Amino acid sequence: MNVKGKVILSMLVVSTVIVVFWEYINRTHSYHEEEEDTDKAKEQRKEDEEELQLLDWFNPHKRPEVVTMTGWKAPVVWEGTYSRAILENYYAKQKITVGLTVFAVGRYIEHYLEEFLTSANKFFMVGHRVIFYIMVDDVSRMPLIELGPLRSFKVFEIRPEKRWQDISMMRMKTIGEHIVAHIQHEVDFLFCMDVDQVFQDTFGLETLGQSVAQLQAWWYKADPDEFTYERRKESAAYIPFGQGDFYYHAAIFGGTPTQVLNITQECFRGILQDKKNDIEAEWHDESHLNKYFLLNKPTKILSPEYCWDYHIGLPSDIKLVKISWQTKEYNLVRNNV
Ligand SMILES: *[C@@H]1O[C@H](CO)[C@@H](O)[C@H](O)[C@H]1NC(C)=O
Repeated sequence: MNVKGKVILSMLVVSTVIVVFWEYINRTHSYHEEEEDTDKAKEQRKEDEEELQLLDWFNPHKRPEVVTMTGWKAPVVWEGTYSRAILENYYAKQKITVGLTVFAVGRYIEHYLEEFLTSANKFFMVGHRVIFYIMVDDVSRMPLIELGPLRSFKVFEIRPEKRWQDISMMRMKTIGEHIVAHIQHEVDFLFCMDVDQVFQDTFGLETLGQSVAQLQAWWYKADPDEFTYERRKESAAYIPFGQGDFYYHAAIFGGTPTQVLNITQECFRGILQDKKNDIEAEWHDESHLNKYFLLNKPTKILSPEYCWDYHIGLPSDIKLVKISWQTKEYNLVRNNV
């Protein structure tokens, strides 16, 4: 091969290498760009879905006269501490569904259910999808209620218990069974409420959380040693003096379906253990609920504004009542007072 021939050949080789190399760079480069693109998109998507931080919507300093933050850094939601607009904006992208269970047995159906549902229809999670799970002992006595858009209901017939204490304790078992069977697939958050109360104002997104407990109106300022916790060691609900954070009201509790399932299962386990030991906790399911929340701290607590009893009057702490207790007509609605 002459010199000229050598040069041409080597140039060919070089140019081939360059072409191949160029292709390689280009390809890896565009690969990188693609990767960057998806990373960026992913990050954006993550940002959109990013868990809203507590202090984005909650300002504990807005109500200095009351406890707005627990020792374990859970918010205690009082009127004035939250921005519902920020929450609405956040949850608008998520299209959530919130469930609400309510039990009405015997004369509780006529006395309370219609008002409870009518007021819930108006004030509970306005603008969001809601499913009411209504448990009654006689479906034929269900009141006719016209629900607004985004609201639906499911009615279930439950076996009536003779004693109201048992009705209220069996509630824990029934809720748990329904969460497992269907509720867990139907809602993002679930509340469980007593029927003998009425919504008076918006019960909104600020109440949603992993596990949510309600401060009992009569005890929100009291010292834990005064609380009517179960004080007998023999009960599963036993809480010794010197312990306890708050007195929680069983009339309202909630959270994600998984958390509510655990609450109801653990409470029912305690109730069964007590039955076996022939003891009944002083405040029935509420005693067990208080024990549960002592061991598993709620991630959010609702001020007594969310479940107020007007018999107390209306102290200045209570800025806006969201739900109020109905007059308890125990002699009318309970078989055994
Ligand atoms: C359920 O309750 C039990 C008993 O209190 C507790 O040990 C467990 O951590 C709870 N599980 C969840 C998922 O919260």
